[in-house]
Amino acid sequence: MNLILASGNSHKAEEFAELFDKKYLSVEAASKKIEVVEDGDSFQENAFKKAEAYYKEFKAPILSDDSGLVVEALPGELGIKTARYGGEGLSDIERYEHLLKNLESEPNRKAHFICVLCCYLNPEEVFFFEGRCFGEISDKALGLDGFGYDPVFIPENANAKGSFAQNPEWKMKNSHRAKAVKIAQQFFASRA
Ligand code: IMP
Repeated sequence: MNLILASGNSHKAEEFAELFDKKYLSVEAASKKIEVVEDGDSFQENAFKKAEAYYKEFKAPILSDDSGLVVEALPGELGIKTARYGGEGLSDIERYEHLLKNLESEPNRKAHFICVLCCYLNPEEVFFFEGRCFGEISDKALGLDGFGYDPVFIPENANAKGSFAQNPEWKMKNSHRAKAVKIAQQFFASRA
């Protein structure tokens, strides 16, 4: 089955294209970006809003995701609002520097990423899958690879030490997004 990706984020599109096993599902970028207001109260609601809007436009199976970073010492500040943390119009670097500054004298660095996927095949068949990746926020940026908060997120349990940005191959197999995709693939493989 082919899914159209409801996202304008080229980094996510690359990760999804690599993560999905084309035997079960393949993902292609949407030919047109649809603006969707992400004003839901949960990752699931936002993922659904994106999928529904793209389905209305393309009339074909859609894959959408909503993701974000939950920082234990800053409850409610990031989460579903991660993309807007620090204000509108900031670059990725400005956002994670804002985070590092707000955690400057904070001993609790625990954080996790969440990804909720929405596979919207048609209005009667809508499936959600969730993945999480636990870790902590570093005290400075480490590495240049990836996107978003990758340079300041140190995952637990990494074979290689350091941030997501320093371990792109590990991230590809073990991230919140990778875990959600794995569950989605198992589900669709069992239906095949
Ligand atoms: P979304 O595009 O609405 O899902 O926003 C997700 C927010 O979380 C953006 O600020 C992303 O930069 C950040 N984010 C999501 N996944 C990752 C990741 O894998 N690495 C770094 N930042 C991420």
